[in-house]
Amino acid sequence: MNKIIKKIAFKIPYLKKLYQKINKLSEYEDRIKLLEKEKTNYNIPYFRDAFTIEQQTPYKLKINQPDLADYEQNFYSASQIAHYNINTTPYIPTFKFNGEYINNNHRYYSMCSKNGDVCINTDIEGWLHAADALKIYEITYFSRGDILNLGTFKGLSASVIVQAIKDSNNYYKCDSVDINAKTTKIAKKNIKNKIEEDKIDFFVNDCSFFMDTMMILNRKYYFIFIDAGHGYKNTFSVAVRCSKLLIPGGFVLFHDYVDQRNFDKKSYYGVFQAANDSLLIDKNFIFCGVFGCSALFRYVSD
Ligand SMILES: C[S@@+](CC[C@H](N)C(=O)[O-])C[C@H]1O[C@@H](n2cnc3c(N)ncnc32)[C@H](O)[C@@H]1O
Repeated sequence: MNKIIKKIAFKIPYLKKLYQKINKLSEYEDRIKLLEKEKTNYNIPYFRDAFTIEQQTPYKLKINQPDLADYEQNFYSASQIAHYNINTTPYIPTFKFNGEYINNNHRYYSMCSKNGDVCINTDIEGWLHAADALKIYEITYFSRGDILNLGTFKGLSASVIVQAIKDSNNYYKCDSVDINAKTTKIAKKNIKNKIEEDKIDFFVNDCSFFMDTMMILNRKYYFIFIDAGHGYKNTFSVAVRCSKLLIPGGFVLFHDYVDQRNFDKKSYYGVFQAANDSLLIDKNFIFCGVFGCSALFRYVSD
């Protein structure tokens, strides 16, 4: 036991310094290079979970944003997620509205049948927990700008987004991106069967490349849903680009942040670690809690 404590105590000042260094690097490639170099000697995510992250995501989370619900909740902290076998978390509203749900279409995701008790079972294949779908719907419904859906697959998250845009009577649109042309074609068909197509544009592209292109075009979004490549590099690459595309006050939702595969050495998943290494340590973002298997962050810079 003493050995372990010694080992950890030795690493804390080192890690603090490392995070300061990472924060100073604005280029994604430079951050990756530094992390890769250091990871050969230190198991960064594990020790980050236990010490640094705990302070940044306290149990009691007071949101303190004037336009949001005044919620003070006992969220699972990042280190709890890392250390206990938590696979899903309940839905709690982020915005102020009366009642438990915004309307019947919102309520639907809590009532519809579930695959394996958790994932919603609609006519579109996919793996959204009820609380994920409820949060995607809510943030889109109260959106003050366009939405970026990263990882279209067969259109499940896109269908939730398009439904919420329609129900909100807003004129905002959704850009949905996926590298796979085949599944995008299926998604298009699935959405076309459901709702008006003019609320969504589909793109077959790599997410980071798409985001870089949108930056050049000065395109802005209010809400970015990240559910594409689930490896560390892919997630980090997308996450560090978000601030350049978000309207101040906008949101990022990481799917599969609460997923034990992130902590399984045999799995390539690195969503939890990449979200923490990018947005959790970024002063321009506040952590707004976990819902379903997703983590919500708000871009608070002006
Ligand atoms: C889990 S699925 C998305 C599920 C979808 N959000 C839903 O609700 O059904 C992940 C998708 O990300 C896509 N993907 C993986 N890496 C990508 C990348 N680098 N750029 C764009 N899409 C990618 C895959 O082709 C896959 O369709």
